[in-house]
Amino acid sequence: MTEKGIFTSGRYGEQTTTALLDWYDRVRRPFPWRETADPYKIWISEVMLQQTQTSRAADYYLRWTALFPTAEALARAPEEDVLKAWEGMGYYGRARNLLTAAKVIAATLGGRLPESYEELLALPGVGPYTAGAVASIAFGLPVPAVDANGKRVFSRLLDLESPVDRSAGEAAVREAFVRILPRDRPGDFNQAVMELGATLCLPRSPKCGECPLSGICRARERGTVLLRPVFSGREKGETAEGRMIVLLREGKVYLRKRPPRGLWAGFEEFPWEAPPAEPPLPPALSQTEGADFGLVRCSFTRWRVSLRVTVVPAPDGLQQNVPGGRWAGGDELASIPLPAGSAGVRKMLFRAGLIACPSRRPKAGAE
Ligand code: ADE
Ligand code: SF4
Repeated sequence: MTEKGIFTSGRYGEQTTTALLDWYDRVRRPFPWRETADPYKIWISEVMLQQTQTSRAADYYLRWTALFPTAEALARAPEEDVLKAWEGMGYYGRARNLLTAAKVIAATLGGRLPESYEELLALPGVGPYTAGAVASIAFGLPVPAVDANGKRVFSRLLDLESPVDRSAGEAAVREAFVRILPRDRPGDFNQAVMELGATLCLPRSPKCGECPLSGICRARERGTVLLRPVFSGREKGETAEGRMIVLLREGKVYLRKRPPRGLWAGFEEFPWEAPPAEPPLPPALSQTEGADFGLVRCSFTRWRVSLRVTVVPAPDGLQQNVPGGRWAGGDELASIPLPAGSAGVRKMLFRAGLIACPSRRPKAGAE
């Protein structure tokens, strides 16, 4: 395959590796986790860096390693202290996993991180990226650590047309990566690729003129840099915000019927709007005011929509102004198939007692 051909000559690959490492030696940023050889601290930094920017992660890293300087110290810490130290970084599952893994390390491994890729991978919360990063950076093992930066860099070097979020594209990136990963400096190589992606090979404004690999970069040669990497489109999406309205009257709620074509064709639902994903409601509905009933989220096609739910006691005369729907309560409401968002709200209404509880459970939402 032409995509792979680029590094098939050993010499070419070797020159690429050397150019990248020489560049990294010149420009590497002095992050605190680059000043240590302690596998525990390197592990902590790599977990922090998965969703957090390097500049913010540095502060957290310094505080965390002062509070919990070893895996054993972490293992002894109360969970609330651990979560507190993580506060502000989000994705708290990462902090809980660190604690769980530290307990395993303290209890069964004598407080030391295991020194193989496979054993690292077996720890809670440690995936291929983290295992590769710790194995290569802390233990000098020749395994790749390919993050989003690495995928972008290699998809451009190879001018890869396969989506990098599918297995074929991922495999092509990994194969090329492993092909030029040096056995003597795997940790620096992995970090050099990340550094290139973070400072030069940027998503929207790559600085190819300064790039040490511009001479071999296929996307640069072919003018396709901004077209790479390709994504399958599965995970990409757009967001919209809007509202959903629950008109309430004599123990019944108002449902409208969707048009016979398109999204959730023919289904009934609570009226909602979230331009441009879903057109605005008629003024008789959108101008109503009521009590805030929380937030409901739903996804469809490429949209992820957040809707603020308002419960509105239906004013007199409104019924005539919102044609094309019906009022339903109790068992009847429970038995109507609704799209996921409306089904969630129906459940909330039953739970909150705003609608009399049905004698049987609501049907699962359709989607
Ligand atoms: N992102 C993930 N790991 C990193 C590292 N070791 N240095 C810089 N950025 C990173
Ligand atoms: Fe990325 Fe440009 Fe370097 Fe190619 S030449 S690797 S696109 S920065």
